Amino acid sequence: MRAVIARAGSSVVEVVDAPDREPGPGRVRIRVAAATVNPVDSMVLDGAPVRFGLVRAREVFGLGWDVAGEVAGVGAGVTGFAVGDAVLGLRDRLDVRAGAHAEFVVLDADAVGALPAGLDAVAAATIPLNGLTAWQGLDLLDLSAGDTLVVTGAAGAVGGFAVELAAARGVRVVAVAGAADEDFVRGVGAEWFAPRGPELADRIRAMVPGGADAALDAAMLGPDALDAVRGGGAFVVVNAGAAPPALRGIRVHHLWVRADGARLAELAALAEKGALTLRVAGVLALADATEAFARLGEGGLRGRLVLVP
Ligand SMILES: NC(=O)c1ccc[n+]([C@@H]2O[C@H](COP(=O)([O-])OP(=O)(O)OC[C@H]3O[C@@H](n4cnc5c(N)ncnc54)[C@H](OP(=O)(O)O)[C@@H]3O)[C@@H](O)[C@H]2O)c1
Repeated sequence: MRAVIARAGSSVVEVVDAPDREPGPGRVRIRVAAATVNPVDSMVLDGAPVRFGLVRAREVFGLGWDVAGEVAGVGAGVTGFAVGDAVLGLRDRLDVRAGAHAEFVVLDADAVGALPAGLDAVAAATIPLNGLTAWQGLDLLDLSAGDTLVVTGAAGAVGGFAVELAAARGVRVVAVAGAADEDFVRGVGAEWFAPRGPELADRIRAMVPGGADAALDAAMLGPDALDAVRGGGAFVVVNAGAAPPALRGIRVHHLWVRADGARLAELAALAEKGALTLRVAGVLALADATEAFARLGEGGLRGRLVLVP
């Protein structure tokens, strides 16, 4: 099968022939219909996880975390899925030889969720990594209806989902994004809009006196976002390099996304009924993966680029 890989010492994406594996016990083989290109794929291509000691060096890294497609085989002991089922899934390991940017991918069954009939695979493929990150970040913050939350990078994939899921929980959200994204973040439920820029914490504190109860820092602003949180509040870091010190008794959580098929099915069901906004910036053939990575690297995308085999 064809698969997209990153080779050690090279920052060039390669589309290669890769072994097409059968699913082992407890695993599901998925025929990929759509797979998104995320910032983490660019980081793997750039060698960052190896440089930062997050994963051992290997000759070849498979790319692609998010997948939507159809079950093409199930391993021993898998009861929840059958061949032909429409699914979405997440691989959440850094050190794989083949990822979701491929014709087939093999995932643990509990990393796979049902894809509702009314949801198209290309749009659904934008859910897993960033939808789960947003959901799990909100769970860590443990907010109640009426609490206040700052979301930085609110127009991005993690941030946009975080705003919408938080607002659905009754949380009052301050969205931090560029001026051009105000309509989007308000449209997904932000109560306040704070344009990115200097004196951010002061401006947020003018909206939420005393500071917000929590922040989810998808733009990796670190201390600038922490300063907008009240003493004793909570803070979620999505990138280890951007963790602020846990000053003023603020709980600082480091989030590493965890595949969760049941939650993926819930997120997909929300999207199907229009309660989760999915954004596709463009659709490219798997063979054009190089172009997709180049476009992601240029920045400014709203929504995800999706590869189709
Ligand atoms: N820990 C985990 O498990 C996990 C899981 C998923 C993602 N992540 C990480 O989370 C981060 C966000 O991912 P993503 O997919 O949401 O990225 P994304 O879609 O590129 O969104 C990032 C957003 O932040 C905005 N931004 C950049 N600088 C900003 C600033 N100073 N103030 C306000 N907004 C700013 C960007 O705006 P512009 O485009 O205008 O610059 C963009 O809208 C990435 O570092 C990713 O690797 C971590």
